Amino acid sequence: MRPGLVGKAAEMLSGVSSLARPRLSSLLLVPATKTSPPMSGAGSQRFRSTSSAQGFSELARERSKTVTSFYNQSAIDVSAEKASVRLTLATLLYSGKSPDGHHILSSAKYLHKELPVRIAHRIKGFRSLPFIIGCNPTILQVHELYIRAYHMLSDFPQITDQEAEARFCKLVQQLLDDHKDVVTNLAQGFKECRRHIQDETIIRNFLDTTLCSRLGIRMLATHHLALHEDNPDFVGIICRRLSPKKIIEKWVDFARRLCEHQYGNSPRVRINGHVVARFPFIPLPLDYILPELLKNAMRATMESHLDTPYNVPDVVVTIANNDIDFVIRISDRGGGIPHNIIEKVMDYHFSTAEESAQDPRMNNIFNTITNSGNQSNPMHGFGFGLPTSRAYAEYLGGSLSVQSMQGIGTDVYLRLRHIDGKGESFRV
Ligand SMILES: Nc1ncnc2c1ncn2[C@@H]1O[C@H](COP(=O)(O)OP(=O)(O)O)[C@@H](O)[C@H]1O
Ligand SMILES: [Mg+2]
Repeated sequence: MRPGLVGKAAEMLSGVSSLARPRLSSLLLVPATKTSPPMSGAGSQRFRSTSSAQGFSELARERSKTVTSFYNQSAIDVSAEKASVRLTLATLLYSGKSPDGHHILSSAKYLHKELPVRIAHRIKGFRSLPFIIGCNPTILQVHELYIRAYHMLSDFPQITDQEAEARFCKLVQQLLDDHKDVVTNLAQGFKECRRHIQDETIIRNFLDTTLCSRLGIRMLATHHLALHEDNPDFVGIICRRLSPKKIIEKWVDFARRLCEHQYGNSPRVRINGHVVARFPFIPLPLDYILPELLKNAMRATMESHLDTPYNVPDVVVTIANNDIDFVIRISDRGGGIPHNIIEKVMDYHFSTAEESAQDPRMNNIFNTITNSGNQSNPMHGFGFGLPTSRAYAEYLGGSLSVQSMQGIGTDVYLRLRHIDGKGESFRV
């Protein structure tokens, strides 16, 4: 076992980490008596009874505080009616750097005004969820995190000088940390209430919007923090000369290590096409999408060659660059996606991970897979890789499409717009 790698890998699952940390306040709406039946799955950990009287009063205080904050939210209602101001990356890239740090101050002021509006929109989304789903403790916990973030940001005083800006950065960093498990928690929460979901489109729309909004917020927040750093290749989080080949190689190494850990070997990856291309782009979304696509390609390759794991076909990645956009195609020879599931692979929570764990060859030869449990394996498991990657690509004005040659393999095309290209740039 290499726990370090697995832990890191789990976190990398498009922000999906297997280590959802339950919080006391997520007991909200769950009866706080020792005799109550435990919630299923992750909920059971959350269901810790408090032994002392002091524990109970703390719990009661926490619960009543939270309930008030769910119902008495006129400030959030007002913010939720405001329009969000989305910027083009070109604006961020070319807004200039002033020696007195003025650009940092205006960036902080923009964030200070913009983040509460975006967060309020998301809180509205949580409120519109069907009742039984919104009551799920794991989902409530995320809802509550958003409410907390809203108040912390809107209570923050006006940013007029560097000292206030430095404190604001601390707050932003803290919120980024507090929210790092949100995708995992949402994946887990919706999984827990799957059987209550009647209209899949409500959930899909909620997840698409929430995950993309989160990506946008994290890009803006990290951009602001990174403006303080002095790296000639970067303006905030925008890399002036991003090499698609380099970033692909980084994630190939990562995915191969995971794959080797899990299957004992991994396919080689050949990169061709416009391998010398460099252009301004923002690595962050690629850091989410590429590992997901590469893991899928490697997993399919290994699982379609279980009898010859040391002799598997290569995965081929092709880069095509032009003045409007760039395309990354990942081709594997992993047998393709069968006809009967091709329509479902883009659905949140659709995964064949459990079936493959039942393959006797998998259990006998690679018993690591059974040790790792079936719900959030670093290689696969939540069924969030493809739908999240597609949502991110579309959010950035691009697309993700899957072509399966059943019996042979799969081609996945990731298309993303240039930020300074001829076509219209996307907004963050
Ligand atoms: N390259 C591929 N070849 C074959 N099947 C694939 C490929 N990529 C994705 N799939 C199928 O689509 C499903 C969903 O993929 P994904 O959203 O990444 O979730 P997960 O990897 O957690 O199962 C996978 O379980 C697998 O059955
Ligand atoms: Mg996957």
